[in-house]
Amino acid sequence: MNVYDSARMADVLAPYGYAPTDAPDSADLIILNTCHIREKATEKVFSELGRLRALKERRRAAGDGDMLIAVAGCVAQAEGEALAARAPYVDLVFGPQTYHELPDMLAAARRRSGPVLNTDFPTEVKFDALPEEAQPQGPSAFLAVQEGCDRFCTFCVVPYTRGAEYSRPAAPIAAEAERLVRAGAVEITLLGQNVNAWHGEGLDGRVWGLGRLIRRLAEIDGLARIRYTTSHPRDMDDDLIAAHRDVPQLMPFLHLPVQSGSDRILAAMNRKHTADAYRALVDRLRAARPDLALSSDFIVGFPDETDADFAATLRLVTEVGYAQAYSFKYSARPGTPAAALDDQVPEPVRAERLTALQQLLGEQQLAFNRSCAGRVLPVLIDRPGRRPGQMLGRSPYLQAVHLAAPPRLLGTIADVRIDAGHANSLAGTVVTGEAVTAPAGPATAERAPA
Ligand code: 5AD
Ligand code: SF4
Repeated sequence: MNVYDSARMADVLAPYGYAPTDAPDSADLIILNTCHIREKATEKVFSELGRLRALKERRRAAGDGDMLIAVAGCVAQAEGEALAARAPYVDLVFGPQTYHELPDMLAAARRRSGPVLNTDFPTEVKFDALPEEAQPQGPSAFLAVQEGCDRFCTFCVVPYTRGAEYSRPAAPIAAEAERLVRAGAVEITLLGQNVNAWHGEGLDGRVWGLGRLIRRLAEIDGLARIRYTTSHPRDMDDDLIAAHRDVPQLMPFLHLPVQSGSDRILAAMNRKHTADAYRALVDRLRAARPDLALSSDFIVGFPDETDADFAATLRLVTEVGYAQAYSFKYSARPGTPAAALDDQVPEPVRAERLTALQQLLGEQQLAFNRSCAGRVLPVLIDRPGRRPGQMLGRSPYLQAVHLAAPPRLLGTIADVRIDAGHANSLAGTVVTGEAVTAPAGPATAERAPA
């Protein structure tokens, strides 16, 4: 979401003569778009700010014009006042809901010294105020359809930093998707902090769910692949599950965070489902789309997590089988209910559990990648590789694929024979004479990994 927001900030600033640069030394404006989800991410902001301050001072000393520094995103939202006090050389501090007001904020920052602070949740809708995309995102594009969260998991800052759940109406989403495809997108990933809770105004004026939205977007000519992230198990409704069966453009890969395999911990996290309910949901999804590959987020060391609770997480991972996953040590976040709980798990225990979980998840990922060797998969070639003649692409299961291909295949979907599966990527060879850009098509027996 922050990648998407950063691109949209660039769109807002483009009419004012700003363009992205790879050379921060000569930038007129540097925006740090920040994440507050874990303490480590927040700490990074302050170390990065120290570096930027030196850059700003060097510029001024050299008589080379002023460099404005802005802090955007969830750290700005959560720690606005404190941040402005701690880093007075920052010119602008604004949360994720106000970046459409950037031109006005910049004008205010130029008029005064010391931070301009904007952490409102404006009632008027940010998305309506944003201009059309100024820069093409390339073959694989992001599209925010939903923002904020009403689930209030006890460990999570998102409901406080991104605010209440909001669903964009289907009409501007469809229009944005059509523009992205005209600008070269072959794949669109629908984004939201809790994207499957999307329930926006449909094109018929009624409330639609995400399944219905996906069916509408699948009608767009040239849009070969649709993905969505990230989801809550409780918001996976029948129609969305059916869309996995019915819509060939909907890719057979789903990020469905479970966080823990222990019912006691799931309850303390306020996840509102049991481990068995998650298993049953996975069964239904796999019945709808047999080759569905799954990914999840896990937190180890949530307050009062015992060895038995952690063993239940390992058991769930073993039973479900993941193609990929993210796992984190629990990080107490200011203002969240879990941070106030007694029985915080000691750091060495958290570290030990994380190592054990990552070992298991790593083995599963490697086994999944290896199971793809020898198959022919449709690969969206979306980036040049590091070496000449090398290109990078994505399999339907979101695996990175390294292959040799001419640059003209960039932005196309080619049939690729997978030669090897490694820990974090696949290596393959293009087998189609010409790349195809038609939808990947429903899973066929010979394409489905074991
Ligand atoms: N500590 C550790 N991990 C967290 N996440 C969210 N909040 C915390 C926290 N306080 C993880 C969850 C979530 C992912 C985006 O980040 O696993 O799904
Ligand atoms: Fe945070 Fe996701 Fe829970 Fe919402 S559903 S509170 S974003 S972990």
